[in-house]
Amino acid sequence: MNTAAPADWKTGTQALGEIDVDRLSFSISTARYTAPEYQARERERVWMKVWQIAGRVDELPRPGDWKVHAIFDQSFVIVRGQDGKLRGFVNACRHRGNMLCQGKGHAGRLTCPYHLWTYGLDGRLLAVARPDLVGDIDKDAHRLAEVPVDCFAGFIFLNPDPEAAPLADFLGEDVMRRLDAYRLGEMTPVGMDVCESLECNWKVVMDAFAEGYHIIGVHPELLSVIDLAAGNSRHGFFGDHGMACSPFEVSRTQDFGLEAQVEGIRNLPGTFPTVAEVLPRFEALVDANRDAAGGLALPEGVTVRSLLQQATRETLSAKGLDTSALTDDQMSDNQGWFLFPNFFMTIRAGEATVIMAWPHPDGDPNRCIWRVTAYMWLPEPMRDQLRADPVTVSEPGSYPYFLALQQDYEQMPRQQAGLRNRGLSHMSIVKEEMSIARFHAVLDRYLGES
Ligand code: FES
Ligand SMILES: [Fe+2]
Repeated sequence: MNTAAPADWKTGTQALGEIDVDRLSFSISTARYTAPEYQARERERVWMKVWQIAGRVDELPRPGDWKVHAIFDQSFVIVRGQDGKLRGFVNACRHRGNMLCQGKGHAGRLTCPYHLWTYGLDGRLLAVARPDLVGDIDKDAHRLAEVPVDCFAGFIFLNPDPEAAPLADFLGEDVMRRLDAYRLGEMTPVGMDVCESLECNWKVVMDAFAEGYHIIGVHPELLSVIDLAAGNSRHGFFGDHGMACSPFEVSRTQDFGLEAQVEGIRNLPGTFPTVAEVLPRFEALVDANRDAAGGLALPEGVTVRSLLQQATRETLSAKGLDTSALTDDQMSDNQGWFLFPNFFMTIRAGEATVIMAWPHPDGDPNRCIWRVTAYMWLPEPMRDQLRADPVTVSEPGSYPYFLALQQDYEQMPRQQAGLRNRGLSHMSIVKEEMSIARFHAVLDRYLGES
């Protein structure tokens, strides 16, 4: 039994009933999802000011690797320098403003294709073409304009605001310590890394993953393994960010007998693909508790949940992964993490699914881009071998999302269609959806509306 305190989700979190919600508004205006004026304010006060994820560290492994990060019509290039450090620059040449880089690539220096000015990987202007035509120029005064870039948990973060406070201040010690235990930096996209344009506001996506209430309507198949009873979920609020967790078990065993619980675990790979690799060990542990006629009875203190935990720890350890910083709860329970403004992740030992949504570059608040990536914790030699290629979906509906995600994918545009009705001015948030109310309260603070 491992109960390492740093990753214990019960410490520093609250049950739903303990949370002081009096200062939150449970009435959310529909204009936030549909009005161009609202999105224009978000653009200036949130997206141009906030630390945002711009990729994974292992996308740019070597000095000279670079990639573009765009938000609305603003473009930045992230470059790994000769010193190994990642830096971010405004993606515009200091001569006449030409876009310096497109997509991603590798180079010893960055050369603008317009008049061939050349910059070092640290942003210094190294040379101008035909100096005889240029005249005197102060190279130091013509460095690429730099913006803050930093990394955490294998993610590259960029902030468009040169005056931004450090990333560590934004994330906070609590978030960083709690997530460190999972070794996210050692996780690799496996099986799914997909980007698609959706017909809904980016906040419809964030809201959809901030509550478990819709499981009853949208994901009924999850009811046999996720305990929705209000008293069992825990919520943690850490600065602008938050975490929620419901135990991955069935408490009402009178409704779901042992065999039904085992069956629920067997069905999990449809939603949590990496559970498949734990199943052989899980089945062996279950079978060890069957009598000659196949009947299943578990000794005192052993549950289907604890067998899943044991199978998960043993399977990860057999791959040479060190699970000592993770508790038994984390072997079975998904924690749902939200990092403001647009990052949602379910994570349990050995795997994570990350969902991010951005305003659509075309500026229409009724549309967004989402990216869904399934990560798996792998020993180093296996990472490149199993790494999923990023997919961009051009034909709507053509990508085979796994069941629960497909259900959300179909639901979200439907909500947006409802929100567009002028006759509906507000949504009414309920207690279980308090994380949505909190997200919008943080948003209000950025927008200067609270
Ligand atoms: S605009 Fe880049 S060299 Fe002229
Ligand atoms: Fe969902």
